[in-house]
Amino acid sequence: MLRAANSALGILRGFRGGAPLGEGVVEAPKPCLQSKHLRTAGWNEGSATCRGFPRKTNKKLCQKGPCMAENILEMRNITKTFSGVTALKNVNFAVRQGEIHGIVGENGAGKSTLMNVLSGVYPAGTYSGEIILDSKKCEFHTIKQSEHKGIVIIHQELALVPYLSIGENLFLGNERGSFLKIDWDATYQEADGFLEKVGLRESSHTLIRDIGVGKQQLVEIAKALAKNVRLLILDEPTASLNETDSEHLLDLLRELRSSGVTSILISHKLGEVAAIADNITVIRDGEVITTLDKQNGFSEEDIVSAMVGRSLSNRFPKRVPQIGEVALEVKDWTVYHPLYGGQIVCNKVNFNVRKGEVVGVSGLMGAGRTELMLSIFGQSYGVDISGKLFLNGRETVLKTVREAIKNKLAYVTEDRKGNGLVLSNPISKNVTLARMDKVSIRQIIDKELELRVAAEYRKKLNIKSVSVLQEAGSLSGGNQQKVLLSKWMFADPEILILDEPTRGIDVGAKFEIYTIINSLVAEGKSVILISSEMPEVLGMSDRIYVMNDGRIVAELKAEDASQEIIMRAILDSEKTKGEKSEGEKMKGETWQTN
Ligand SMILES: Nc1ncnc2c1ncn2[C@@H]1O[C@H](COP(=O)(O)OP(=O)(O)OP(=O)(O)O)[C@@H](O)[C@H]1O
Ligand SMILES: [Mg+2]
Repeated sequence: MLRAANSALGILRGFRGGAPLGEGVVEAPKPCLQSKHLRTAGWNEGSATCRGFPRKTNKKLCQKGPCMAENILEMRNITKTFSGVTALKNVNFAVRQGEIHGIVGENGAGKSTLMNVLSGVYPAGTYSGEIILDSKKCEFHTIKQSEHKGIVIIHQELALVPYLSIGENLFLGNERGSFLKIDWDATYQEADGFLEKVGLRESSHTLIRDIGVGKQQLVEIAKALAKNVRLLILDEPTASLNETDSEHLLDLLRELRSSGVTSILISHKLGEVAAIADNITVIRDGEVITTLDKQNGFSEEDIVSAMVGRSLSNRFPKRVPQIGEVALEVKDWTVYHPLYGGQIVCNKVNFNVRKGEVVGVSGLMGAGRTELMLSIFGQSYGVDISGKLFLNGRETVLKTVREAIKNKLAYVTEDRKGNGLVLSNPISKNVTLARMDKVSIRQIIDKELELRVAAEYRKKLNIKSVSVLQEAGSLSGGNQQKVLLSKWMFADPEILILDEPTRGIDVGAKFEIYTIINSLVAEGKSVILISSEMPEVLGMSDRIYVMNDGRIVAELKAEDASQEIIMRAILDSEKTKGEKSEGEKMKGETWQTN
């Protein structure tokens, strides 16, 4: 059925077609190779450092055009505004052929906007400035046009269709076959070839929803390769990946580099950018601050200070814990998969969190952490839930989210776009969404109060936006995350479950969020922190539970924990997996989640 529908879609897409090769290409001015021009523009003359653009934005570009000997791409004087907000101001940016070029900057700095300009998401005419690709001026009016020139962007939020197979996704919009009929044999055969290239050992018939985020990222790259990518743009590809999957992805980028593919990598994981990038451009408030060159050496600290304009010596704010009574406890908590009957997702889990305590939950992707917390939060996930839940020592049954909120629980989802925010609503409505009663008088919303509340949180969490009336969907990823946090802080919970709260958040904002977490526990509230970033779990928690395969496999005091000990606990539990009952073993092995 699905395939037939897709086939029909494919036919429609085929008729619509894309831009013919070369469309949108205009001759660029010839490059200027005169050394005096290079000098006046502030460039070095040596070929290795001849970057074709000034290192500081305020230096003027050479009138006759920059040296482009090695550049595959140049973006010149790009300015982009959104209804009065300037997202990019005269940005000059160049990428050398065959390099991995990092882009870093705080949330809302303009990184994604710059890449959207490049890839035609924002069509020519909606911004000012020039794009020069292979020494030719280009104007892209659609994404298809940029793809025809070999530019492929993998967006911050993945764009795969969960209920289609890997093969179908790989060639979506780029189908194999004729205008009238998709050639499924060729589709799956070629798809298998691309999967092999990216090192993904999955059948191309597997549905996207059945593979984890790490594998989905590889599918996106395979999809890019299927489009003959020459310039691959990855917008925070590792934000939701664990360390092993991230490492795998970065290795793949290195391999692509050695085969001549140029990549642009946007990431908030600065250690990773520092390790892999040849050059790093730092953007702040829509302007290029500097481009750091590996040849001159750069460290994570260099990047941080360029990004935030000061050095950040301590990533985790200090706190003296004052830990009280047990606030929440679960005993023998068992949850089954809502779709695959009989498949166990959480297996006799026991854990607790005390007042004034931050409890970290560590584990690999698919360990069952999100499912566990969702099942506790008003049974929002799973079926046949058994076990006991105690709040302040009293056994409690929470059957709905409403009951959970009433009992002062809050859950900050890891999926801010899908489940966390109403993207078409303004910040103000999102902030008050979980507790509309607090801004209503006799069930009628007091608009003024709502705006005041939102303005207060906008200030408190430093949300970058035009006003509280800006749509949540138009905010940068990190600022959306802050709106989500505001929503749950406004609900005034006693127990806050934070699921990947700093995903896609810049280093400065992370610090702000950690400070907020500290102030919450200082008030005697309890925080459960799920995070795939081990330094975050280690840096913030008083106690850490390690989860694997739906079970708690270790409980560690913060002072006894380290990355090695956590990984060891996971690996040891993998070994004992074989000792489980036959039925359980089967369930554990087939279970996968995003
Ligand atoms: N469609 C839009 N309408 C209005 N403003 C927008 C829109 N898209 C982006 N902006 C604004 O432009 C600025 C740059 O946003 P952008 O998404 O490029 O930031 P970013 O550097 O990618 O941030 P992050 O690291 O959080 O992803 C932000 O202030 C954002 O609110
Ligand atoms: Mg972004």
